Amino acid sequence: MQIVHDIGELRRAVRAIGPVAFVPTMGNLHDGHLSLVRLARSEARAVVVSIFVNRLQFLAGEDFERYPRTMERDRGMLEAEGVELLFAPDERLLYPAPQTYIVRPPPLGAELEGRFRPGFFEGVSTVVLKLFNCVQPSAAVFGKKDYQQLVIVRGMVGQFDIPVAIVAGETIREADGLAMSSRNGYLSAPERAEAPRLHRVLSAVSRGLPPAEGLRELAQAGWRPDYIEVRRRHDLELPRAGDTQLVALGAARLGGTRLIDNVEF
Ligand code: PAF
Repeated sequence: MQIVHDIGELRRAVRAIGPVAFVPTMGNLHDGHLSLVRLARSEARAVVVSIFVNRLQFLAGEDFERYPRTMERDRGMLEAEGVELLFAPDERLLYPAPQTYIVRPPPLGAELEGRFRPGFFEGVSTVVLKLFNCVQPSAAVFGKKDYQQLVIVRGMVGQFDIPVAIVAGETIREADGLAMSSRNGYLSAPERAEAPRLHRVLSAVSRGLPPAEGLRELAQAGWRPDYIEVRRRHDLELPRAGDTQLVALGAARLGGTRLIDNVEF
């Protein structure tokens, strides 16, 4: 696996290996990321993964500083998957000057996650656009675990006519249902035992439990829920009569860790 830190070097390497499928990550990889890498493999001859902890998508007081940087371990995992190219830019390379040109997502960017993490989708959309311009992939893979991110990136690619096919990867879960996430490592042992409740509650909502009941169950079990909502899958708007392709989305804090998850139905 070739590891590149520089944009010019990256573009030369991509030109040499042909059309590539791309998996953007912030590192601290787990099986969920590897399943996206395998999906990328089915989209193009070669796979490029990026590891970049994007300061722009962290709010003041969030975990940017303590976000786990595990480059050596990540590199081994990607090598074992046969990834051709790892792009690991230094922050000064991707943001040589303060990023004052920012992608402004549609109103959806201020709902759900955006209501509790204002500016998050500006940061995500901006870095994804930059990464697409650096890597110039033919396809890019995003996990459904971050459902709203997937919908917003898909919309951005559509409206900016970016020639990248957006491919959605299924959420990979632990045996007890907890969605794999880089932030699960923050959980204490008792929190880890409690954490699958979020998925259980969302599954119950998908079977008809009112979201307010789900919020109550989480609060009673010691969580601080931000939201549980049912939306349409394709655009995350509120369901209208006759809509059948839906998703229950939720976010809640367990101790100091904020977890998100969703269940399609
Ligand atoms: O999902 C993530 O890990 C990040 O939001 C992404 C897409 C790599 C952008 O920083």
